[in-house]
Amino acid sequence: MNALSDILRREIRHCGPIPFARFMDRALYCPELGYYDRFANTVGRAGDYFTSVSVGPLFGELLARQFADWLAAVPGEPRHLVEAGAHDGQLAHDLLAWLPRNRPDVWNRLEYWVLEPSTRRQEWQRQKLAEFAPRIRWVDAWERVAERAVRGVVFSNELLDAMPVHRLGWDATEQRWFEWGVGLEGDRFVWRRLAGESGNALAPRVGESAEVSWPLASLAPVNLPAELLAVLPDGFTTEVRPQAVRWWTQAASRLGVGHLLTFDYGLRGEEFFTPERSKGTLRAYHAHRLSPDVLADPGAQDLTAHVNFSSLQTAGEAAGLRTEGCWPQGVFLTRLVQTDSAASAISTPAQARQFQTLTHPEHLGARFRVLVQSRSPPGSSPVLCRP
Ligand SMILES: C[S@@+](CC[C@H](N)C(=O)[O-])C[C@H]1O[C@@H](n2cnc3c(N)ncnc32)[C@H](O)[C@@H]1O
Repeated sequence: MNALSDILRREIRHCGPIPFARFMDRALYCPELGYYDRFANTVGRAGDYFTSVSVGPLFGELLARQFADWLAAVPGEPRHLVEAGAHDGQLAHDLLAWLPRNRPDVWNRLEYWVLEPSTRRQEWQRQKLAEFAPRIRWVDAWERVAERAVRGVVFSNELLDAMPVHRLGWDATEQRWFEWGVGLEGDRFVWRRLAGESGNALAPRVGESAEVSWPLASLAPVNLPAELLAVLPDGFTTEVRPQAVRWWTQAASRLGVGHLLTFDYGLRGEEFFTPERSKGTLRAYHAHRLSPDVLADPGAQDLTAHVNFSSLQTAGEAAGLRTEGCWPQGVFLTRLVQTDSAASAISTPAQARQFQTLTHPEHLGARFRVLVQSRSPPGSSPVLCRP
């Protein structure tokens, strides 16, 4: 029996079809029943998907090298390394194992923060990171952090693709967007077109992580050329993720000096509107396979959709950050190891294999990108990004 399915069915029977963002939020984050609260071991060979972290420790070690250089350039103290989406704590472990041995100058003056809203995931992280615990502070939300309080680096790997999306469809006759919701046929979850503004007016409830009450007018993709809309086929489907934009804005406003970056698979805004993406980028994964039904078995499969890097870039710039670049992961990591201080980063056959997987365009090198933005100390020249 799937208890989460029953909870969602009751809700739909009571309220009518719910926005897909609400379904995705519950499927991933319902305490104890949602996918990311149920399983610590979703990543890697035994789980449902691979990440750059599950390839091996090299990803964390390379990031540690780059972060150490950036942190060393932050004037004064304290200096912070803030990770979000730490999940089981493996990336933090790889970074924290490398830093004290290789950059004691940075490590000795560093505070490591894990931004983690879930108490269950915090427990997994505390276990994995027990040896470093005295140096780590857990924070459950950006709201607990003062504006401009972070001096250093805020980073994440595959965080934003795991945030709920609203799924929109294009009505070519009426020349307007509508929102897809989730309804029921018997006991089966099915797609339902929501009825305009009132269709997604469900208010968030106490203790829930995602807002689902975004008015449709605020969800519609912006800045699409009239020529594109004129030829967009009826039913063209895409996703928008206001929660990620809000998260990025919050992160940017907390950054007093330093870098904000995220690795993820995603696209620039215009790349969502191509014929091969006419059904959108929303996917479900189970045991490394694409699942045929995104709505099946909520809480038992991973749900994900591409990140819109343009919307993040715009949000960061609006909060006063400077965009350093948005590179394919392969380009970013390759340039990083070409610098003098990282020349020795790849010295064993295992590291060479990991590097190949992380950077080769047919593995993770092109599918993943990294957006890097920064804020310089007042009155100084910009803290430049190496690549
Ligand atoms: C795909 S996993 C990535 C795990 C890890 N970073 C890696 O690369 O292997 C996404 C993680 O982001 C977490 N997450 C989602 N929303 C979050 C938020 N607002 N703050 C912090 N973590 C969040 C999820 O719970 C999950 O643990």
